Amino acid sequence: MYIETADFDYIREIVHQESGVIIREDMAYFVESRLASVARLNAFNSINDLIISAKNGGYQNEIKRLIIESMMIFESSFFRDKHYFETVREELIPSIISHSDNNNYELNIWSAACSRGQEIYSTAFMIDYFNVLPSTWKVNYMASDFSGELLKKAKEGVFNQFEINRGLSGKLIEKYFIAHDGSDLQVNPSIRSRIKFVKFNLFENGASIPQMDIIFLRNVMIYFNDKDKNKVLENVSKRLKPNGFLILGSTESLVNNILFEPVHFQKAIIYKLKSK
Ligand SMILES: C[S@@+](CC[C@H](N)C(=O)[O-])C[C@H]1O[C@@H](n2cnc3c(N)ncnc32)[C@H](O)[C@@H]1O
Repeated sequence: MYIETADFDYIREIVHQESGVIIREDMAYFVESRLASVARLNAFNSINDLIISAKNGGYQNEIKRLIIESMMIFESSFFRDKHYFETVREELIPSIISHSDNNNYELNIWSAACSRGQEIYSTAFMIDYFNVLPSTWKVNYMASDFSGELLKKAKEGVFNQFEINRGLSGKLIEKYFIAHDGSDLQVNPSIRSRIKFVKFNLFENGASIPQMDIIFLRNVMIYFNDKDKNKVLENVSKRLKPNGFLILGSTESLVNNILFEPVHFQKAIIYKLKSK
């Protein structure tokens, strides 16, 4: 299948408009291959027919949504950059505990671009396995993503052997997974039921999202321009508690940001709201 320049530009424009994600000029091959897969799955004869349908509001705009969602880069893995998870366990949660005088505290943790769920599942496994919280505390896990398709997969929690072996120890696999089809495994229902999965675009203001103690916002703003990044950071800043922590990806940093300041922990740099 082959994509015309005008169609490539159209895809770049709608993806940026709806998700903030910038598709670079050298990514025609990537766009073509994702479009080919959407065309095949939805019985279109060509990329061209698929794009015409999107432009004409095909299946009541569903085709356009499927195309945009198919352009998301969803690379993730369990305990990706594991020093962040160690920092959550060894320093962030102890700091939150030390700032709280409430025996029945509810700790809110949000994976804000969760892809297929590895980030929130890793966090839930770790907190449970290491018994990190005081026994009277409760933890609320929320995971969200722009893509409804990815979110559906995250909620199912089914992973193949390659995905499982990337980052998980035998002990965690044994404790938190059950058999699924073939050699696939599924996160056990007890962990899955603790997580609230929500379709959420980071450009929405998120007024209905509770204040969080820890927000993972990793490896998503790398696809945004500076203006969009600032908009997202402003939205996210409103969802963070005054003593809460924002975790960015290992290649991301905020320099002289007006809302957040870096805090140097032993193994990672984490962000906090600047005090007013
Ligand atoms: C590379 S993955 C990162 C997954 C995980 N946070 C990690 O670091 O392993 C990027 C995710 O951001 C999501 N995404 C892109 N634009 C978004 C937006 N505007 N709102 C919410 N999620 C978005 C994509 O669907 C994708 O699942």
